[in-house]
Amino acid sequence: MACKGSLLPPHLVKLLDADDYHKARSTSGHYYYISRMAMRQTNWIKIFCFLSFLAILAWGCFFQGVPLYPGLYFGCSSPAWKKAVLQSAARQEGGQMTVLVTGAAGFVGSHVSLALKSRGDGVVGLDNFNDYYPVALKRARAANLQKAGIFIVEADLNDKAVLSKLFDLVHFTHILHLAAQAGVRYAVKNPLAYVHSNVGAFVTLLEQCKVSYGKSSNPQPAIVYASSSSVYGLNSKVPFSEDDRTDHPASLYAATKKADEVLAHTYNHIYGLSITALRFFTVYGPWGRPDMAYFSFARNIVEGQPIKIFQGPHGEELARDFTFIDDVVKGCVASLDTALPSTGSSGKKRKKAQFRIFNLGNTQPVKVGDFVSILEKHLKKKAKRNVIPMPATGDVMFTHANVTKARVALGYNPTTDLDTGLGIFVKWYKSFYQHGGSNEDMLKGYKPY
Ligand SMILES: NC(=O)c1ccc[n+]([C@@H]2O[C@H](COP(=O)([O-])OP(=O)(O)OC[C@H]3O[C@@H](n4cnc5c(N)ncnc54)[C@H](O)[C@@H]3O)[C@@H](O)[C@H]2O)c1
Ligand SMILES: *[C@@H]1O[C@H](CO)[C@@H](O)[C@H](O)[C@H]1NC(C)=O
Repeated sequence: MACKGSLLPPHLVKLLDADDYHKARSTSGHYYYISRMAMRQTNWIKIFCFLSFLAILAWGCFFQGVPLYPGLYFGCSSPAWKKAVLQSAARQEGGQMTVLVTGAAGFVGSHVSLALKSRGDGVVGLDNFNDYYPVALKRARAANLQKAGIFIVEADLNDKAVLSKLFDLVHFTHILHLAAQAGVRYAVKNPLAYVHSNVGAFVTLLEQCKVSYGKSSNPQPAIVYASSSSVYGLNSKVPFSEDDRTDHPASLYAATKKADEVLAHTYNHIYGLSITALRFFTVYGPWGRPDMAYFSFARNIVEGQPIKIFQGPHGEELARDFTFIDDVVKGCVASLDTALPSTGSSGKKRKKAQFRIFNLGNTQPVKVGDFVSILEKHLKKKAKRNVIPMPATGDVMFTHANVTKARVALGYNPTTDLDTGLGIFVKWYKSFYQHGGSNEDMLKGYKPY
């Protein structure tokens, strides 16, 4: 016994050592016997206290809406989870719709979620927080959303059970589907991630929407989703217009985005789902994606590292139609506002449903070299330019949007030029990754593919 000899006087030790109750009966034996039992039981008491503590914690998390960790709840059947979802879905004054935003912890998703919430719409997010790029950045965006009262369901979109629970709980009028495996070069390393998140997940979502709700007064949700300018693939006719060919993709990413457009058409045709596809053109801005060139260039310039500038086979420079996030947000919101209701119920179409495709670009392609010069100006630092031939991983030489269709139908009017937009991005980048600040480590060791 640990306490033997050190703390207790010898006659007590003797008593305590007497294993048998009868031997210990003389001189206040009962008292010492009980103390001794208590000492023997201390481990059990500790375990008991610990278990009680856990039980109270579990009760709080399960029933009282206390998250285990900011935003992390016990499965999707707990009352706390339901409460969080319902609160997030509730419309405020001025709100017209209840929107499920997939990919809400992502770059575009976090911005649009905040815009919708701020005008009163009910917003519920969904994201699997995968580690394609540093998860800490997704968590930081999610924390902003949480402050605004938006809850993000942490689940993979391929999880049918979660979707069905969510759709039972909330009547979504609209879906803004932005979750995807983005990026072109990562497909060399992990091609199936694109099939999983861009094809499988989209079909799982469409299947859920198709059977949802069903009474004519309660139509299926209308769906607005992110396609990509990459579907124009090897097109050489500029600017890219929605009716141009999109059947010669140059990357697996583009192929899966094209697959989305074709799949969406099928569900529109058979089941009457209202569909709007948005072909984004290189979106950039604060809280952006660290795998994209503008972000990694800024980082490398700040850190004094060289940047790789790709060149075509005849020395041509790459050009991109860079679109500022605020313009894209307006395009997404206008798409939701102008989406007509779906026309199906209980998996059957009653009449033809809306089917739209829009380019959301900026209509002003900029050569990558010029773009680096603008970055240098805002960062007040020269880049170490390393010009190399473009690897054959699927990046296209240029993109240029014709946005006439979106102008007419959505009132879409991009107003931020690259100089202004990059100025805003750099300001954010510097304040967010302030030297010595708590976010400084967020990208440590991260190298985009
Ligand atoms: N940013 C651009 O320049 C650009 C250009 C063209 C198209 N797009 C498309 O716009 C959409 C949004 O892009 P972004 O730049 O915000 O990308 P992002 O990677 O920042 O956001 C996507 C989010 O979806 C989540 N996600 C991925 N797979 C999921 C799954 N299976 N289940 C649940 N969540 C999942 C990710 O965790 C991420 O937070 C994507 O569909 C993308 O392909 C973006
Ligand atoms: C742009 O798109 C509109 C509408 O889709 C089309 O009528 C017009 O011809 C296109 N413009 C160019 C320059 O391709």
